[in-house]
Amino acid sequence: MRDQAERLRERMQQNNHERKTKLITVTSGKGGVGKSNFSLNFGLGLNEQGHKTVLFDVDLGLANLDVLMGITPKKHLFHLLEPNTTVWDIIEQGPGGLEFIAGGSGFTQIMQLDEEKLDRLFTQLNPLQGYAETIIFDTGAGFSNESIRFMLSSDEVILVTTPEPPAITDAYAVIKLLHSRNPAITIRLVINRVTSDREGKMTADKLAMVAKRFLNMDLHTLGYVSDDPQVSKAVKQQRPFLLTYPQAQASKSIRNLVGCYLENSTMTDLSTNGLKGFLAKLKNFIR
Ligand SMILES: Nc1ncnc2c1ncn2[C@@H]1O[C@H](COP(=O)(O)OP(=O)(O)OP(=O)(O)O)[C@@H](O)[C@H]1O
Ligand SMILES: [Mg+2]
Repeated sequence: MRDQAERLRERMQQNNHERKTKLITVTSGKGGVGKSNFSLNFGLGLNEQGHKTVLFDVDLGLANLDVLMGITPKKHLFHLLEPNTTVWDIIEQGPGGLEFIAGGSGFTQIMQLDEEKLDRLFTQLNPLQGYAETIIFDTGAGFSNESIRFMLSSDEVILVTTPEPPAITDAYAVIKLLHSRNPAITIRLVINRVTSDREGKMTADKLAMVAKRFLNMDLHTLGYVSDDPQVSKAVKQQRPFLLTYPQAQASKSIRNLVGCYLENSTMTDLSTNGLKGFLAKLKNFIR
């Protein structure tokens, strides 16, 4: 454990402390549409391109990112409250060099911490600022109070849906809810499990049209991911599909999408409030 902490600290010192960290929350309306698979493989794809990404498992029900990676986290977020434990001790090494932090079963607990403990926990997270270029929070479906607070505190929300009408309807309900809380919120759509780009575009257009018409809101589309049997195979093997099946349709989709994300991110990065801004907002929601 010490070795790992030392290694991380060294790497941290090589990093540009001035660099802003962008915070993204991945959510959906309906459950089971592919948020965790997307978060994991998108994070890996960003890392592959040299864009340092740390993944955070915020799923309040079953923590499933670790299952998808086939690893058992030794520590989780709440260990930060223990003496002599730093953020470098709770970062787990996932496959393909992807680093991730397990939320444990404790994210609801955050909301119940007293002021002093909450401050301690958040201060302990500060060194991540500048260490990662992007932090991705993988949440459960979007209607829990905790997920909403994460979304409203992030720089942007990635909303995952499939082309199936119940998933689209629930995705719109999340958009409406978020818009009512912050009309300026940035939401980017990922249409997962598409059988063609055309189907992806039609789904995204449908949501964008409704959001424009009823909320006067501009939705952005990040991209589409193919419906691909290799995804389920990789899940069963507890390995990310991007690593196990790099030539799969779904892996190609992710790489495409990562390319689009990186092309656009120089512009959006300027507007990020960084990790400190995120934690300050989250704290306001908790208190
Ligand atoms: N692109 C895809 N092609 C084929 N199957 C997929 C794809 N994405 C996800 N799946 C299937 O959907 C299942 C659920 O995916 P995942 O666990 O990522 O969803 P989730 O939205 O995180 O679920 P939860 O709401 O429970 O957190 C996967 O185990 C896989 O079988
Ligand atoms: Mg999940």
